[in-house]
Amino acid sequence: MPELVPVLSKTDIDSLVTQVAHRISNDYRNHDLVLVGVLKGVFVFLSDLIRNLDIPVQIDFIRVFSYGSDITSSGKIQLTKDIDLDIKDKDVLIVEDIVDTGLTLKYLIDYLKSYHPKTIKVCVFIDKHERREADVVIDYCCHHVGKGFLVGYGLDYNEDYRYLSGIYHLKL
Ligand code: IMP
Ligand code: MG
Repeated sequence: MPELVPVLSKTDIDSLVTQVAHRISNDYRNHDLVLVGVLKGVFVFLSDLIRNLDIPVQIDFIRVFSYGSDITSSGKIQLTKDIDLDIKDKDVLIVEDIVDTGLTLKYLIDYLKSYHPKTIKVCVFIDKHERREADVVIDYCCHHVGKGFLVGYGLDYNEDYRYLSGIYHLKL
């Protein structure tokens, strides 16, 4: 049986999301901010994040398929759902659940730049360092971990565990 080791409780998460939302609200007050969430994992974090902001924002989603095994990405990425909003001259914040190799985010930053936004920055719930390959700047991050495969709070392993309200280290 896989073992789930607690990493962040719901209370921990609430406090981390409140803090990052406060920073984003202050930095983007009086800007035209569009949050672009990376499906599917981000849906839980994004819905908490927007309800803790005190500035108006627009929301869109993008989705990519990254070839690889259950727990590692190969870096070969295919766009499977594009954004619908016009982000030209807008301030864009890509919102992602977790960054691992960084290859997905690098692809998305380069891709979204082709729409000529005014600025483009990145907010992730978890920054996982161990396997970083792409040089991406993470502007807003709630929590850092060294390594391990994490599930819960939107994060899945083969589509399971997304519903858990905390974050757990999955030991297979
Ligand atoms: P990257 O391209 O290696 O940075 O991978 C990014 C994507 O891989 C994330 O958006 C997740 O969907 C998935 N991923 C990476 N690490 C984990 C993890 O620990 N748990 C669940 N999904 C992960
Ligand atoms: Mg993801």
